[in-house]
Amino acid sequence: MTKDWNLSAAPESTSHVQLQQEYGLFIGGKWIKPSDGKYFETSNPATEKKLASIALAGRKDVDSAFKSADKAFESWSKLSGAERGKYIFRIARIIQEKSREFAVIESMDGGKPIRESRDIDIPLAAAHFFYYAGWADKLEYVFPGRKVRPMGVAAQIIPWNFPLLMAAWKIAPALACGNTVVLKPAETTSLTALKLAEVIDEAGLPPGVVNIITGDGSTGALMTAHPTPNKLAFTGSTEVGKQIYKAAIQGGKKVTLELGGKAANIIFDDAPIDAAVEGIINGIYFNQGHVCCAGSRLFVQETVYAEVLAKLKRRMDSLIVGDPMDKNTDIGAINSKEQLKTIEHYLKLGSEEGADIYQPAGELPKKGYWCKPTLFTNVAQSNRIAQEEIFGPVLAIQTFRTIDEVIEKANNTPYGLSAGVWTDKGSKVFQLTKALKAGVVWANTYNKFDPTSPFGGFKESGFGREGGMHGLEAYLAFD
Ligand code: NAI
Ligand code: MG
Repeated sequence: MTKDWNLSAAPESTSHVQLQQEYGLFIGGKWIKPSDGKYFETSNPATEKKLASIALAGRKDVDSAFKSADKAFESWSKLSGAERGKYIFRIARIIQEKSREFAVIESMDGGKPIRESRDIDIPLAAAHFFYYAGWADKLEYVFPGRKVRPMGVAAQIIPWNFPLLMAAWKIAPALACGNTVVLKPAETTSLTALKLAEVIDEAGLPPGVVNIITGDGSTGALMTAHPTPNKLAFTGSTEVGKQIYKAAIQGGKKVTLELGGKAANIIFDDAPIDAAVEGIINGIYFNQGHVCCAGSRLFVQETVYAEVLAKLKRRMDSLIVGDPMDKNTDIGAINSKEQLKTIEHYLKLGSEEGADIYQPAGELPKKGYWCKPTLFTNVAQSNRIAQEEIFGPVLAIQTFRTIDEVIEKANNTPYGLSAGVWTDKGSKVFQLTKALKAGVVWANTYNKFDPTSPFGGFKESGFGREGGMHGLEAYLAFD
C-alpha cells in the first residue's frame, strides 16, 4: 500500500539466517526432545509459510526444567556479583554480534517491520543485558542498609509482541540478582528465544541457570502451578494474568504482572502539532499496535481537533503496509490469524457502536494477516472500542475542552499502564503526570523505552516494575 510514495522494494536479505527445522527444549544446558513427542508449527504471518517445528513441553519437561534450575541455583547464587556480571555482559555482546540475524528472525516469525526489529527490539534487548550486567556486583548500593539475596528459581512467561525484548526484560535482572530461570516464549514467536538459548550456551553459562522451554498456555499453566519456582513473572493478557495471580497466592509465590493497557494520548492546543501527529502515529501504529502501552485512546483539545484530524489522516495515507522484510515498511503483518480475528471483531463493533471509521485507500497483500491503520471518530466514553484493549492498529479519538475534563476521561479505564501528554507548558505536564493513574507518562514523545527507566502498571495493568533499579527489587529477597 504505497499511496504517496512509489518506492522500489528494499528487502532485507534472509540468506544469512540459520534456522533449524525442528527445535527441542533447552534444559540443563542441553537440547532435549519433548517427553511426549509433541511439536507445533511456527509460521511467518506475512506469508503463512511454516518456519520450524517447535517442541511442546509437557508435565515431565516442565518438571525437569525446574529441577535443573533448582540445582543450578546452588552454585549460581553463590557466585560473586562480578562473576555473574561477566556472563551477562557476554550474552549482551553476542546478541550485538548476531543482531542482524536476530532482527530478521524476529520479523519473519512475528511480522514486525525489519526497521523496528533492527532499530528497536534487538538493540534494546542487548541494552537490557548490558544494563543489568552492570548492576550484578553493585546490588548492595541499590538498597543501602538492607541485606539482599537472590529469590531462587523464577518462572517467566512472555508474550508475542516483543519476543526477544521481553525475554531480556525477564532474564537479565533475574540473573544479575543471582536467580535461575525457566522461561517460556509465546507459541507464535518462539524462535528468537530459542536463538537466545544458543547464545546463552555460547556464553558458557553454567547448565541450568537459564532453561528455555516452548509450548502454549497449557505449558504456561504447568509452570505456574509447579511447586519449585518461588517467583512468577508474566507479561500478557489481563485474563491470564489473573489466573497467574491466583496460582501465585495459592503457591505462596512472589509475582510481578505486566498486563494490558488502553493508554490516553492527550494533545493540548498549545502542543507542537506536527510533532504531536508523529507521536500519535508512533503511539498507535508502532508494531501494528501490538503494544501494551500503545496510545490507543487519543484525546484532542477541541480548538485544534480539525487540524489534528486532517494532518493525522494525511500522515496515515502515507504509511506503507506490507512486507515486514522491506526496509520501507511502516506497518507489517498482524502476528497471528487469531489476533487478526480479534482486531476485525473490534472494527465491526466500532461501527455498530456508532463510531465513524477511517482507513487509507490501497490494497493489502493477498497472503498473510493484515490490517490497515485505522481510526475511529465520534467515539463515546462507554464504547467498547474506547474501553477494551484491541492490540491492533486501531485508534479511538475523543475531544475535550478543559484539563479537568481530560484527566477524568483519561482515567476512566480499568487499565493504568501509560499515557502521553503533548503541550508547550511544563506546568501542564507536571499537573498531568501527577493526576494520571499510569505507570509511565511520556511528555511530547511516545513509546520511548530505555533499560534505566522503570515500566509497569496500576489497576488491571498489573503490578511490579521492570527496568531500572526498580526492576532489581522484583528479583531480590530482603532480610
Ligand atoms: P496470553 O496472555 O494468552 O499469552 C501470553 C503468554 O501467556 C503466552 O506465552 C501464553 O502461552 C501464556 N499463557 C496462556 N495461557 C496461559 C495460562 N493459563 N497459564 C500460563 N500461561 C499462559 O495472550 P494472547 O491470548 O496471545 O492474546 C490475547 C490478548 O491479550 C491480546 O489480544 C491482547 O489484548 C492481550 N495481550 C497483551 C499483551 C501485553 O503485553 N499487555 C501481550 C499479549 C497479549
Ligand atoms: Mg510465528
